[in-house]
Amino acid sequence: MLILGIETSCDETSAAVVVDGRDIRSNVVQSQIDIHRVYGGVVPEIACRAHIETITPVVEKALADATVKVGEVDAVAVTCAPGLVGALLVGVSFAKSLALATGKPIVGVDHIHGHIYANKLAFPDLAYPCVSLVVSGGHTSLYLSKSEIDHELLGSTTDDAAGEAFDKVAKILDLGFPGGPVIDRLSQGRDPSKVVFKRTVPESLDFSFSGIKTSVLYKVRGQDARRPMTLSAEERADVAAGFQEAVVDVLVQQALKACERTGTSRLALGGGVACNSRLREKMKDRAERKGIESYFPPARFCTDNAAMIAGIAYPLFKAGRVSDLSLDAIPTKTHRA
Ligand code: KG4
Ligand code: ZN
Repeated sequence: MLILGIETSCDETSAAVVVDGRDIRSNVVQSQIDIHRVYGGVVPEIACRAHIETITPVVEKALADATVKVGEVDAVAVTCAPGLVGALLVGVSFAKSLALATGKPIVGVDHIHGHIYANKLAFPDLAYPCVSLVVSGGHTSLYLSKSEIDHELLGSTTDDAAGEAFDKVAKILDLGFPGGPVIDRLSQGRDPSKVVFKRTVPESLDFSFSGIKTSVLYKVRGQDARRPMTLSAEERADVAAGFQEAVVDVLVQQALKACERTGTSRLALGGGVACNSRLREKMKDRAERKGIESYFPPARFCTDNAAMIAGIAYPLFKAGRVSDLSLDAIPTKTHRA
């Protein structure tokens, strides 16, 4: 079954053709990062306009790369929740138009479930149950995944998402946007115990990162948030490394606690922050010590992409979880067809 997937929930316009949820024939990702960089973050209105401009060429390229004509596609899949409403609407409207014009079914996909499915693209033999940790710019949540399409929420952030904290801390340190990759790079080879930040680890499986972020702000600017940043490049790198270590420690502790509480020995990560080299290293090591197998998809499947959307649409379709032309963009809630 040939599925065309479309992803426009945030600042990547992406389209992919995936066969039977496994075989990726094409995966085109057009990032808007350069457009948003000058603003220090994603500007929703600009994201929406950029999606409108790029969606047609991106979908055309995905079809051309896969040497598939639009009429040969068996179903159209699209991210419909959660995300920026204007951005989501571009993909949903485009997908509905394609479905209407071709008479093919449409499958609405939850973006977070797509991030989890990225593991199935990278590791087809991944078995269930499995604990899934999604760490992205907009979300930080733990799930008990009972199958590739059924995920029970165990806990999530009560304030900032992990990626959001990386981006905000990079802003405080004047390191540019997006913050995650810069902080990751700057921290490499540094001693993270030079600057130590207090870890917030709730008893539950929830997360909280705003305390660490505020501690960085005080560390850098004292009690006056308007004070200019005066740290040297070396000092900034030490703060970045200390911050990263604190976030990584919290993610590792909560993920392993989730495995312990659910009696699960498999842990799959997804989302942009799962690219983080220190997180990969420490999670793998700590999980191994507890006999837990950890899975990290390659970076191109961790950040936003349509292959994960076209991929998960196959088991959703087989389970009858198909949408229709009343499909709408839902910015906040999860989607279940
Ligand atoms: O999954 P994603 O592409 O988009 C969302 O759905 O949010 O994640 C983007 C987030 C950004 O906050 C970015 O700073 C973070 O992922 N990120 C990283 C790294 N690469 C991307 N965070 C930490 N370390 C990285 N290497
Ligand atoms: Zn995402």
